[in-house]
Amino acid sequence: MRWNTLWPLALAGLAVAEDGSQAWLRYAPVHCNKHCQDALPSHITTLNATKGSPLETAGDELQKGFRDIVGKHVQVSHGCDAPPSSIVVATVSDFLECGSPLAKDSTPLDEDGFYLLTHGSSAMILGQNARGALYGAFEYLSLLAQGDFDALASTQTTENPHAPIRWINQWDNMDGSIERGYAGPSIFFAEGAIVEDLTRAREYARLLSSIRVNAIIVNNVNANATLLTPENMDGLQRIADVMRPYGVQVGISLNFASPQDLGGLNTYDPLDESVIQWWGDITDSLYERIPDFAGYLVKASSEGQPGPDTYNRTLAEGANLFARALKPHGGVLMFRAFVYDHHLTEDNWRNDRANAAVDFFKPLDGEFEDNTVIQIKYGPIDFQVREPVSPLFANLRHTNVAIELQVTQEYFGQQCHLFYMPPLWKTITDFDLRVDNRSSVVRDILSGEHFKRPLGGWAAVVNVGTNTTWLGSHLALSNLYAYGRLAWDPTLDSVAVLESWTRLTFGANRHLLDTITDLSMASWPAYENYTGNLGMQTLTDILYTHYGPNPATHDGNGWGMWTRANSETIGMDRTVWNGTGFSGQYPPQVAARYEDPATTPDNLLLWFHHVPYTRRLRETGETVIQHFYNAHYAGAETAHSFVGLWDSLKGLIDTRRFAEVRERFVYQAGHAIVWRDSVSGFYRNLSGIPDAHDRVWNHPWRLEAEDMQLDGYVAYTVSPPEAGSGATAIVTATNSTTGVARTTVPFPDGMYDLVVNYYDLYGGKSEWTVYLNDEAVGSWKGDMEDRLGHNPSIYLDGHSATRVRFAGVKVREGDELRVEGVADGIEPAPVDYVALLPAGVVD
Ligand code: GCU
Repeated sequence: MRWNTLWPLALAGLAVAEDGSQAWLRYAPVHCNKHCQDALPSHITTLNATKGSPLETAGDELQKGFRDIVGKHVQVSHGCDAPPSSIVVATVSDFLECGSPLAKDSTPLDEDGFYLLTHGSSAMILGQNARGALYGAFEYLSLLAQGDFDALASTQTTENPHAPIRWINQWDNMDGSIERGYAGPSIFFAEGAIVEDLTRAREYARLLSSIRVNAIIVNNVNANATLLTPENMDGLQRIADVMRPYGVQVGISLNFASPQDLGGLNTYDPLDESVIQWWGDITDSLYERIPDFAGYLVKASSEGQPGPDTYNRTLAEGANLFARALKPHGGVLMFRAFVYDHHLTEDNWRNDRANAAVDFFKPLDGEFEDNTVIQIKYGPIDFQVREPVSPLFANLRHTNVAIELQVTQEYFGQQCHLFYMPPLWKTITDFDLRVDNRSSVVRDILSGEHFKRPLGGWAAVVNVGTNTTWLGSHLALSNLYAYGRLAWDPTLDSVAVLESWTRLTFGANRHLLDTITDLSMASWPAYENYTGNLGMQTLTDILYTHYGPNPATHDGNGWGMWTRANSETIGMDRTVWNGTGFSGQYPPQVAARYEDPATTPDNLLLWFHHVPYTRRLRETGETVIQHFYNAHYAGAETAHSFVGLWDSLKGLIDTRRFAEVRERFVYQAGHAIVWRDSVSGFYRNLSGIPDAHDRVWNHPWRLEAEDMQLDGYVAYTVSPPEAGSGATAIVTATNSTTGVARTTVPFPDGMYDLVVNYYDLYGGKSEWTVYLNDEAVGSWKGDMEDRLGHNPSIYLDGHSATRVRFAGVKVREGDELRVEGVADGIEPAPVDYVALLPAGVVD
């Protein structure tokens, strides 16, 4: 009996360390006995599977899938004569050419669509094109890997994409770094060129194809013109060659000034003949190398990037330059709507960065070539934890549009905090903009259906790196998986998508599925709670790494991510009657809702209105300031609970991935406290209004490091002050010394969790040991940059602040508590406080 040898293998899978590199395509064994195996196809028959085509890939993947998942060896054959018990994989046209009919009432397929028809041990996977057939093969494999044998025995599925554009953006630089990437260097570039070994690029294409992503922009929107040298174009050709078998087309971001910077022209004016010629030649050279080149992505006249404004040309004139070069080749231009003035003055009450996209693009509606798609970030500012939908989606009736999402967690904890994004995305894509007072749901605008546009769709900034986990965190991959699935079908349910990802990634145990769902679905609300509430954006340091807390950085600069917080009031007045007029950019029914604080949802109150801290919320009756405090404490408690929930999965997940995820949850629990204290403390200070529950600035179980007896350590004022408990920490007197901080435990005898809050800077690996009397409780190292693969800060601040926890420590009143720190590099073994926490206290 075959399964006798297989079943132990499945169990052994748990013990084997997995590195995450196979993501949801692990093809882990599922229980399938002889009877089950016999009910599955015995042959794979492909039609017209030429070398390197997605059809050949489909055959190979199916063969591998049968072998690894159910232990069945299945032969691949070619040609019209499929033996009984076959899976036939083909394009519809090749299938018909074999003389096989399709059912008369079959729903027609759109580009990339497929039929998956199974009956007993036979199956047909027919794509509208070769790529569609590969998608169908991956769908079949997904059912197999999830053990859905009923569906495999009998299904009649027709799948068509919601939208033609389902692209990925990578913000990779030519030197191999990745802007807003948190998983190591680029898989495409190093030292100004395309890397030799493109194995990871091929594996990435495999993952993307399985979620039906059809194109990728491989380089940063802040583009470097040197990508267009002949050698680098040859390199791009190599990338395209490894991705083509998976049906993933390659495109690139362009730098508007390339004709001057690289081409040696004295202008980059989009209407200048020599510039037009230059781009035409470049485009032709790319298509010579890559006949199925996807197209360009352009960020122009934004955040210091060059653009048509240099020559007083409109954005449409700038865009059309590229669109016309691409058109004869069938390429697409993605032109970004992320254009705004980043030198705005806050003194003017009516200034508002959020207005920029509609202000710039609405007057140009209808002026873009029809192979252009305007790529619009989901909200009017920049990937914040809560934003209203970009009103530009309602204002372009004669222009193709795509939504831009971010899978890389730039403002969402940079893969060190859990953040499952689909529920957030759905607040945007399910939103009804009520254009002309009738139903105008964003997803229908994206597909092109609503305004009857030929093109449209989805783009996501993903930023995978060379880290084996792709994104730096195993759980972060659910966002990439869900992105592809939702771009294909945005009506899918967030939990259902997550469950299939979990089954494929970790297994089908019910407790495991429920726990990962609970964690993921709690993750956005928790993060919003402890970062920025009521539409006040992610209150991170917008002038540095966009990671830890620093609310003050939002105001007083030209970036326009203002909160307008003062000692009495907070929020952006975006009303038409008294503010920036932003709410008037929506169609009238939506505009009216946002114009009035009484009808604005609480979670966007401060996005649209400037109100006193003492204003009461509609939904909970709390004041704004008390809501801030309550939300921050609730959010940090939720993050704390994630560790216990994850621990309940011990034994259900292989040891390596279990431990790596756990490490991040432990970290997140500590950093959520840093967020909570920083933001609550900041507004407590600014408003002067105490927390009704007396939690803010009241930490009865903490022992401040600066109050201890110091030897070799000195007090240090933290900046921003709220990123340090009592605004002060301790650092070693010099960068090469050892410091000792001592105090006497003032708490009653008992068992406590001993936590130490410290700062982990990159550029040094200090070492600390904490003792009770002379017994070491534990030691740790300042090596978070290695363990998280993430380098947040070289300062003592809200990015570097973190904690270590030693659970269940027996303490007696009067014990001597001592922390010893050994500085290293630029890291002076900083300590903020030690807390002894009785059971159940989260502080
Ligand atoms: C954000 C991000 C930048 C990026 C920009 C963009 O502002 O922080 O790194 O270049 O968005 O989307 O163009």
